[in-house]
Amino acid sequence: MKKKIAFITGIAGQDGSYLAECLISKNYKVYGIVRRNSVVEHQKNRLENIKHGLELTYGDLLNESSLSSLLRKIKPSEIYNLAAQSHVRISFDIPEFTIKTNAIGVLNILQAYKNECPKSKFYQASSSEMFGRSVDKDGYQREKTPLEPTSPYGCAKVFAYNLVKHYRNAYKLFASNGILFNHESERRGTNFVTNKVVKTAVRIKLGLQKNLEVGNLNSYRDWGHAKDYVKAMNLILNHKKPDDFVIATGQSRSVGQMINYVFKKLNLSKNKHVKINQKYFRPEELKYLRGDASKARKILGWKPQYTFEMIMDEMIDFWLNFYEQNKNLKDY
Ligand code: GDD
Repeated sequence: MKKKIAFITGIAGQDGSYLAECLISKNYKVYGIVRRNSVVEHQKNRLENIKHGLELTYGDLLNESSLSSLLRKIKPSEIYNLAAQSHVRISFDIPEFTIKTNAIGVLNILQAYKNECPKSKFYQASSSEMFGRSVDKDGYQREKTPLEPTSPYGCAKVFAYNLVKHYRNAYKLFASNGILFNHESERRGTNFVTNKVVKTAVRIKLGLQKNLEVGNLNSYRDWGHAKDYVKAMNLILNHKKPDDFVIATGQSRSVGQMINYVFKKLNLSKNKHVKINQKYFRPEELKYLRGDASKARKILGWKPQYTFEMIMDEMIDFWLNFYEQNKNLKDY
């Protein structure tokens, strides 16, 4: 059988690297673009275990002509648009860059897709951050919940989400949105709250650091595992028709509860070591997320394998092992 060809933007990120592994295990040929970074080592370290079936090149969502020529050359069967300025708080500091990349960048790749390979299938990394202030009466967010974003990041994601639906309807393209709730792993950047908490708690446990400084402990998130969520991306593109799906666990915990779990596991006192720092608060906070993934469960047969406890335990083990094996990297 002819190999399927996938093109992934944002391939060097948490989701991109897990997705590449997942697709290669299904015998896809995978192409990805990475942005030029002054520290070369940072560009590929999540991908270093992948030896075969992967081809990387430089590219950027803001450079449409290079996207077009790449798509013309690769002729992918599936396009996964995961590239973004993905940090919500940072989007308040650099709103213009965030909106250019996360909104106009999506316009650019949709145009290249429509013009160069319209028979391909397109996945857009939409986000639960789009719901913002909006929750259904029963306490869940789902595909029909109104979108009321509370950050430049969320506003840009809503723009892109609508654009994908518009291109699907106007040009009969197979373009789908995965509306993914928070998903974590040891590959998460350590400026996102779960990996920051776990890494810092392990450092405190090992005597490498005194305190954990965080912002709002009272916001609620629905945390899943990135490995489960990249499988949903692939299922979405292999469904018989293009559509939009919420991907979530259906459980919600506060940041404070998540910290309690990690500190208890490591036998650490939260009162002694956790300090609140205003710099980690956002001008407007998304207070509560809890996703209803019934549609994906029913139509795609998707369900998460990881529980919250399994995710956090895996991250704790990762950082304990990391410092055990890299005794010279105490400042890392
Ligand atoms: N990052 C961070 N750092 N967040 C903190 C901290 C801290 O020190 N202290 C409290 N928080 C709170 C934030 O205010 C937010 O309510 C929550 O922890 C989660 O923050 P993040 O882990 O940064 O994730 P996010 O929810 O803002 O965004 C992530 O999920 C979205 C899906 O809803 C990102 O992955 C987005 O790219 C993604 O779209």
